[in-house]
Amino acid sequence: MKALVLAGGLGSRLRPFSHTMPKQLIPIANKPVIEHVMDNLRAIGVREVGMIVGNRREELESKLGDGSALGVDITYIQQDEPLGLAHCVLIARDFLADDDFVMYLGDNMLIDGIEEIADEFRTTRPTAQVVVHKVADPRAFGVAEVDENGRVRQLVEKPSEPRSDLAVIGVYFFTPAVHTAVERITPSARGELEITDAIQWLVAEGMDVRARIYSGFWKDTGRVEEVLDCNRELLDRLTATVRGEVDEQSQMVGAVVVEEGARVLRSRIVGPAIIGAGSLVEDSTVGPHTTIGEDCLLRGAGIGYSILLDGASVDNVRGVHGSVIGREASVASAERNRLVVGDHSSIEVPA
Ligand code: TTP
Repeated sequence: MKALVLAGGLGSRLRPFSHTMPKQLIPIANKPVIEHVMDNLRAIGVREVGMIVGNRREELESKLGDGSALGVDITYIQQDEPLGLAHCVLIARDFLADDDFVMYLGDNMLIDGIEEIADEFRTTRPTAQVVVHKVADPRAFGVAEVDENGRVRQLVEKPSEPRSDLAVIGVYFFTPAVHTAVERITPSARGELEITDAIQWLVAEGMDVRARIYSGFWKDTGRVEEVLDCNRELLDRLTATVRGEVDEQSQMVGAVVVEEGARVLRSRIVGPAIIGAGSLVEDSTVGPHTTIGEDCLLRGAGIGYSILLDGASVDNVRGVHGSVIGREASVASAERNRLVVGDHSSIEVPA
């Protein structure tokens, strides 16, 4: 089985980060989302990965290369415009040839793994198999109506009155029959070739389309709130390791990882938390549920439930919470509010 990983798209909901980096490279527990994706693919025995890339191709390629460091073999497939998930299948036809494949959205985190679901596909080999997750409010999702045997009766995109609570999430298993489906459908009202339309086409043709429930932790990391939520969940599974330096005046509580070359001085770190390689934390309070990237500087800082990307700094500012601070960005204190804020950024300060 091959994989088709979708790492194009606009990422507009993740601005301002997506102005300067592909959202699939946003770090969660100090590892880019797309590398978590590769871990899941390797775990189901997939090696050949076709990766759809758009205008952020360069950064993805320089980070992931040919995939060998991650135990996969990546072929990059250029998508000039984000014309939809089914369009990705269309342009990957040569790479996919007549093999079965798993299509995986490059911003989706299924942190409990997909081994069982992949095994079921391999054993039963229906025409297509979608992965569904029970959600409280399915109205914002593609919703699967499924019979008692797990066979999909109908897929409905964002129904106002959902007939089930099974949302279709970002992992799909296909046999080559999907190639006919993506050729038959036409663009939706938003101008995209929708994968739900292609799957619905298979259903309407009477083909065997199955749904398998994934009941682990799932997040589409399209927005900052989801990135933080996912970071929290991964950190909750952290094991404490200290490879860097922690002085005697510092206090570590719970699961804290201090990576190589990091220094923690006169500070209190409440786990779960990660202090990234080469970072310096002085006279600060960090955590819980906080990930500090590489080469960050925290001085007199108080920060919890947050992510600092590489090279960021917080100087003499306390009460930072629910925040994501970009690469090389700096947050410092001053007599008055002095803000240099990039396009599409958002800042909330006490009224
Ligand atoms: P989305 O999150 O649905 O789309 P997006 O990346 O454009 O984000 P936003 O809505 O915030 O602007 O895409 C899901 C995944 O699929 C994501 O990893 C990007 C990828 N994708 C493509 O590779 N090509 C496409 O044509 C589309 C629509 C998405």
